[in-house]
Amino acid sequence: MKRLAVFASGRGSNFSSILEQIQSGNIPAKVACVISDNPQPPVFSIASSVGIPTHWINRKQFSGGDEYAGFLLSLLVKYEVDLVILAGFLKLMPAPVVKRFKNAMINIHPALLPNFGGQGYFGMKVHEAVLSSGVKTTGVTVHFVDEHYDTGSIIRQEKVDVRSGDTPESLAHRVLEVEHRIYPWVIKAFCEGRIKHLNGRIEIEDE
Ligand code: GAR
Repeated sequence: MKRLAVFASGRGSNFSSILEQIQSGNIPAKVACVISDNPQPPVFSIASSVGIPTHWINRKQFSGGDEYAGFLLSLLVKYEVDLVILAGFLKLMPAPVVKRFKNAMINIHPALLPNFGGQGYFGMKVHEAVLSSGVKTTGVTVHFVDEHYDTGSIIRQEKVDVRSGDTPESLAHRVLEVEHRIYPWVIKAFCEGRIKHLNGRIEIEDE
C-alpha cells in the first residue's frame, strides 16, 4: 500500500477524484497527508472530513529556502510518503525535495506540455492563452516534477478539442473531466509499479 502526500492550493477537485478511487479500492494507496500554502483551502475540509491530517505551509515563516525545504522534507519523512502528488499546487518545489522524490513526485497540467506551460501558466490563465493562440487542440499532461516549472518527464497526455464558441470556462470544464480520469489512472499505475523508465522515456505497462 503506497503512502501519498497531496499538495493542493485551490478547489481540490483533482484531490476528490483521487480520493474517490482510493476509497473504492481501485488505487492501492492511502493519503497520508494533505499540504497547502493556502491557510484554509477547500481541500482541507474534504481531507479533514475523512480523518486525513492537513498542514498549512507558509514559506514566509522560514528564514531561508534551506529551512523551508528541510521542513517539507521532515513532514514527508514523518508521514513515510512514497509518492508526492501536486494537484493545483502552484509554488515551485525546493530542489532538495525534488531530488529526494525524483521519479516519485508528479504534477498535472491543464494543457499539452511543453505548450502553454512554465511560470505564470496555471489554471484559467492556461485556457485563456490556449484560446487566444487559436490552436484547435489542447489537453492534459501528467509529468514527473523536476526543479523547473512544467519541464519534467511526461508520463501521460490526452487531447481535448477546442470548439468554436469555447470560453475559458467551457474549455476548462472539458479539460477538468479528462484530468479527473487520467490523474487517478497514473497514480494507480505508479502504486502498482507499472511506470517504467526506458532510455529517458516513460512507459506504462498494462494492468
Ligand atoms: C487543475 O486544472 C490543474 O490542472 C491546475 O490547477 C487546477 C486545480 O484544480 N494546475 C495547474 O495549472 C498547474 N500549473 P483543482 O483544485 O480543482 O484540482
